[in-house]
Amino acid sequence: MPRTALVTGSSRGIGRAIAERLGADEMNVVVNYRTDRAAAHDAVAKIEASGGRATAVRADVTDPAQLRDLFDAAQRHFDGLDVLVNNVGTARFSPIAEATDEDYDTLFDTNTRATFTALREAANRLRDSGRIVVVSSGTVATTRPGTGLYGAAKAAGDQLVRVLAKELGSRRITVNGVRPGPVRTDGLAELQPESVLERVAAQTPLGRIGEPADIADITAFLAADDSRWITGQIIHAGGGSF
Ligand SMILES: NC(=O)c1ccc[n+]([C@@H]2O[C@H](COP(=O)([O-])OP(=O)(O)OC[C@H]3O[C@@H](n4cnc5c(N)ncnc54)[C@H](OP(=O)(O)O)[C@@H]3O)[C@@H](O)[C@H]2O)c1
Repeated sequence: MPRTALVTGSSRGIGRAIAERLGADEMNVVVNYRTDRAAAHDAVAKIEASGGRATAVRADVTDPAQLRDLFDAAQRHFDGLDVLVNNVGTARFSPIAEATDEDYDTLFDTNTRATFTALREAANRLRDSGRIVVVSSGTVATTRPGTGLYGAAKAAGDQLVRVLAKELGSRRITVNGVRPGPVRTDGLAELQPESVLERVAAQTPLGRIGEPADIADITAFLAADDSRWITGQIIHAGGGSF
């Protein structure tokens, strides 16, 4: 029987590449989006065109009630759930002295609270031998000025990963994280001009910025049976940049 995966924030960017890759791996895929319905349906069409099964569900994952409805819809549509990829996140950078209360709320609502509520739902709903993968950020492994709040919010998610791995091990559910370095997405383009990205690429051992498929391939491994002996780990996926 094909396994079913829910990928939060998968209408665009890294989440979409993950959804398409899991679809290619013959999983049923629930594509989640918040605003861009057309992009989400396009992702579903692409998965179906390559022989997979997918459905799109709108939900703002920062709202616990909508997140619960999303899990309900996923379980109903494919008769159960095996994999959660917690991908939604948002970044903004400013020195701590200049960061606002609104910056704090946005970063912690999206990167921390939404991760906590998604992991709680997954812990209660995934079938045994399931997989949880949280998309974190390489920022957690650095101390660059301006990244304090974003890094702190993502670091909280990493700690939830390590603890939940211990709590779900007896059910053979693995829980891991992926820490991408810069990845070419709309989200990154809003934050960094191309000139900065070129400089970063030049300083990276592999000589380029990441692509969504780079993160999707690693996530697909962590979502597959082949990774069954890895749990509670946060994998650095930045081309050697941190
Ligand atoms: N790109 C990078 O360089 C980079 C580096 C390290 C870590 N990351 C992490 O990777 C993850 C994905 O980043 P990305 O760059 O691919 O993002 P992105 O290009 O901004 O895409 C965001 C996706 O998430 C959805 N989304 C946003 N907020 C949502 C919400 N509240 N509820 C449901 N869906 C929501 C968007 O859907 P709609 O368009 O429909 O709103 C879209 O599909 C994030 O956790 C980010 O922190 C990214």
